[in-house]
Amino acid sequence: MKVILVNGSPHKDGCTNRALEEVEKTLNANGIETEIFWLGNKAISGCLGCGGCNNTGKCVIADKVNEFIDKVKETDGFVFGSPVHFAAISGSLSSFMDRVFYGRGNLFANKVAAGVVSCRRGGATAAFDEINKYFFISNMIVVGSSYWNMVHGSTKEQVEEDEEGLQTMRILGNNMAWILKSIEAGKNTGIELPKKEKSIKTNFIR
Ligand SMILES: Cc1cc2nc3c(=O)[nH]c(=O)nc-3n(C[C@H](O)[C@H](O)[C@H](O)COP(=O)(O)O)c2cc1C
Repeated sequence: MKVILVNGSPHKDGCTNRALEEVEKTLNANGIETEIFWLGNKAISGCLGCGGCNNTGKCVIADKVNEFIDKVKETDGFVFGSPVHFAAISGSLSSFMDRVFYGRGNLFANKVAAGVVSCRRGGATAAFDEINKYFFISNMIVVGSSYWNMVHGSTKEQVEEDEEGLQTMRILGNNMAWILKSIEAGKNTGIELPKKEKSIKTNFIR
């Protein structure tokens, strides 16, 4: 079983990464393989809305998005982490998630997910809500913890002092491991995935 933890911060080794490391350690202690996927600090384009991905399954822009999509099939769980920028997720993570999730609900359906945010002081729940929206529209199983998944700090040393935040991350890791193992056990005893319905699309102009 494998979980990818996406670091949506421009800082490879900052606060968001520190939070993700705590989740990662706990997952590893439960025998779950992990990979931290850093978005980097180069610009990530927003979605062009060109629909190119409908034909190829890949994004027309060659960058981290396609690199990530290649990994999704073989991955059982996802943690998307972001610093809070103006009470929202980082611009790069927003662009990245738009392009990763657009038209790809089936790729993520019935997989496990959680968001994690890091802020100096405020806006954490707004950013956390933002991340969760991608999961809930993609038939994902969203994992919680003992608090909303956030840490506080401007530096990773400050995050180190946020004992409650780090505990929230460990509990999240343990909860995610338990769900992943339960899903595996269910598969092994013949519990089938939920039946799919033919998609109904309505709009509000007629
Ligand atoms: C452009 C920008 C906007 C920010 N906006 C907020 C904010 O709205 N609320 C807050 O508490 N911290 C804000 N911060 C601080 C970061 O969220 C915080 O230091 C975070 O823990 C940094 O994580 P990182 O080291 O992974 O990048 C902002 C930082 C930047 C660069």
